Amino acid sequence: MGTKVATTLCLCFAFYTRHVKTQEYYRMGTNTNSGEAMQFLREYDREASGMCYRVTMAQWKFVTNITEHNRRPMMDELALSSKFERLSWRKAVAYDASRVSDPLARRQLTKILQSSRASLPDDKFSELQQLIAEMKEIYNSAKICPYRQKPFDPHIPRVYSDLTNQGYTLANQPYQHYQPYTETSEYSQYCNMQLDPEISRILAHSRIESELLYVWKNFREQTGPKLRNRYMRYVQLVNQAAVNAGFRDAGEQMRAAYEDQSFRASVEEVYNQVVPLYKQLFTYVRRRLFQRYGDAALRPDGPIPAHLLGNMWAQNWKSIMDLVMPFPQSPNVDVTSEMLRKGFTPLRMFQMAEEFYTSMGLKPVPPEFWRGSMLARPQQLSVQCTASAWDFCNRIDYRIKQCTEVTMQDLVSTHHEMAHIQYYLQYADQPQLFRDGANPAFHEAVANAATLSVYNLVHLQRVGLYQNKSNDPYEVSINFLMTMALEKVAYLPFAFMVDQWRWWVFEEGVENMNKRWWQMKLRYQGVIPPVPRTEGDFDPGSKYHIISDQEYIKYFLATILEFQVFEQLCHAAGQGGLLHECDVYRSRDAGRLLSDIMQPGSSKSASDIIRTMTRGKTNRISPEALVRYFRPLELWLRVQNREEPLVGWNTSPRDLALFSHSTDSATTQLLSHSLLYLSLIANVMFY
Ligand SMILES: *[C@@H]1O[C@H](CO)[C@@H](O)[C@H](O)[C@H]1NC(C)=O
Ligand SMILES: *[C@@H]1O[C@H](CO)[C@@H](O)[C@H](O)[C@H]1NC(C)=O
Ligand SMILES: *[C@@H]1O[C@H](CO)[C@@H](O)[C@H](O)[C@H]1NC(C)=O
Repeated sequence: MGTKVATTLCLCFAFYTRHVKTQEYYRMGTNTNSGEAMQFLREYDREASGMCYRVTMAQWKFVTNITEHNRRPMMDELALSSKFERLSWRKAVAYDASRVSDPLARRQLTKILQSSRASLPDDKFSELQQLIAEMKEIYNSAKICPYRQKPFDPHIPRVYSDLTNQGYTLANQPYQHYQPYTETSEYSQYCNMQLDPEISRILAHSRIESELLYVWKNFREQTGPKLRNRYMRYVQLVNQAAVNAGFRDAGEQMRAAYEDQSFRASVEEVYNQVVPLYKQLFTYVRRRLFQRYGDAALRPDGPIPAHLLGNMWAQNWKSIMDLVMPFPQSPNVDVTSEMLRKGFTPLRMFQMAEEFYTSMGLKPVPPEFWRGSMLARPQQLSVQCTASAWDFCNRIDYRIKQCTEVTMQDLVSTHHEMAHIQYYLQYADQPQLFRDGANPAFHEAVANAATLSVYNLVHLQRVGLYQNKSNDPYEVSINFLMTMALEKVAYLPFAFMVDQWRWWVFEEGVENMNKRWWQMKLRYQGVIPPVPRTEGDFDPGSKYHIISDQEYIKYFLATILEFQVFEQLCHAAGQGGLLHECDVYRSRDAGRLLSDIMQPGSSKSASDIIRTMTRGKTNRISPEALVRYFRPLELWLRVQNREEPLVGWNTSPRDLALFSHSTDSATTQLLSHSLLYLSLIANVMFY
């Protein structure tokens, strides 16, 4: 059956034209009857909402109560939903969307056509879904043995990380000491360290270079090589889907959602504007790392080895705050103890987050929210704890799932998830296809903009959680901005390079993928691998979003846009002071602006919404607000870096040699044969 449909489809494609007149790349048919198109969209809206409700409910039931019994209905609903998506695409592609007179109908049709993989023949479509599922499974089951505690050689002395330098501890993430090895431990019970939480905690809190290297390298060994061939097939399939749908390649299809003809240039321009700030941060952090790890680990003017920055991908550096704190004698802002003293509960934290939005004149959450949400980890159930906000697509049910603990971090997270719920409530009256952010970056950006007003010294004082004691306000503020920069500024080059790499692979093919990955890591982030890498390693496979088929550039743009939105909210609230001290709590004017941003959903383009938001000043995402926010820190960093030989990094031939080894297939094969041979001998000798 599958083949028959596929053949019919492929024949049909001969009649579609690549529609380039208005520079929108997707195939379309010849039906120009607007009435029929509108009728199709009305039916689609009803069915898609119903489908979405059933899938979301089944997913909710599974992630809040993980059992085999609950998995099956979810898988069934997902399969139905995927079938529905394909069917809808086939109906939508019959219309000539460019000639449908109603602009909103045209926009809805375009949304169905642009995002879909449904243009693949049935067998390839299933293969792609299967492939992605397998890659996720491999990734999620990756486990490594504890450092220097190999079960089969118990005589190697064990080393625990030294935890003496904990001026700074992440709330609710205590470092765990692992059970020491005993002769009776089984390998299977023993080598069970997963990325989350064990490996991530080691990267965040260990300051032993060899331990960091061990987990960095071993996690990659358990992911990349197992994923590489599957990923290469994945690239073929998604490119084929994109070409069938009228795009040049899968990268162009991913970028279509941004509705910007010069998208790549626009993003590059934004990136270039944040480079000077990043280089100041980078240079200062490198010196502190040099002081800690010495010249065996890094050069004073070179790139930074990727395992020293507190994170598996060197994307978020907040865990090394203890090493880089500008004023160690001034405390870091942490209101957790005050929250505990005041008897906060998860429920109270959510009520407080709701009041943050209602104080601005925005909507309260409906009663169903309080009935349905999972606000704390339930007893006796296995649940997935990642905080998330849910829209059940029926305009009634909205929920949050969060294993809330009484900490400052979770208080901020609560406000963030509540912002997503507010977004859902604001655009509830839009058709299903428009119940989304104006582009893929908007939801995250708006939620983060709101939380910039919450994780904020002035706000924490206003709500009585932070007392401004005798501390030097300048020092407190620079420490605070450093914490923010380690999370936001350090992230930008990474968030930028992930899809630069991915688009390159979609465009140029899968030769030298790993080499290219490290070229980009070095060029944009200034990091190098701590040990040599080859094509067999496939380090992009250590990042979940790569192998799980999720675009990434949205995180880069969201981080930029959140400051832009925040600055506009501050202007609306009439606050003209330093941006990092702006609090829009209780400002009805800021609330109105937020509602203007959220209410259209994706019925308007991002550029329209940005134009409205900036009262006509611009229609583009701009990093100026981000740069202004960090300005006091940047000035401080410039002073710190005055004596540095180089702001930025010099690349040496040795850096490049770490990954420039390019393998043609003959040598790879030869190498793997001899390795196989070696490992056979090794087994005989040491088993
Ligand atoms: C969890 O799911 C099981 C089915 O696997 C069900 O019997 C049970 O009632 C559920 N528990 C809760 C609290 O929803
Ligand atoms: C803290 O108090 C000092 C004076 O005591 C004041 O100058 C400063 O602005 C206050 N800091 C904040 C964040 O409100
Ligand atoms: C943004 O505005 C400029 C001129 O003001 C215009 O040329 C451009 O097309 C607009 N961009 C988008 C994406 O609408």
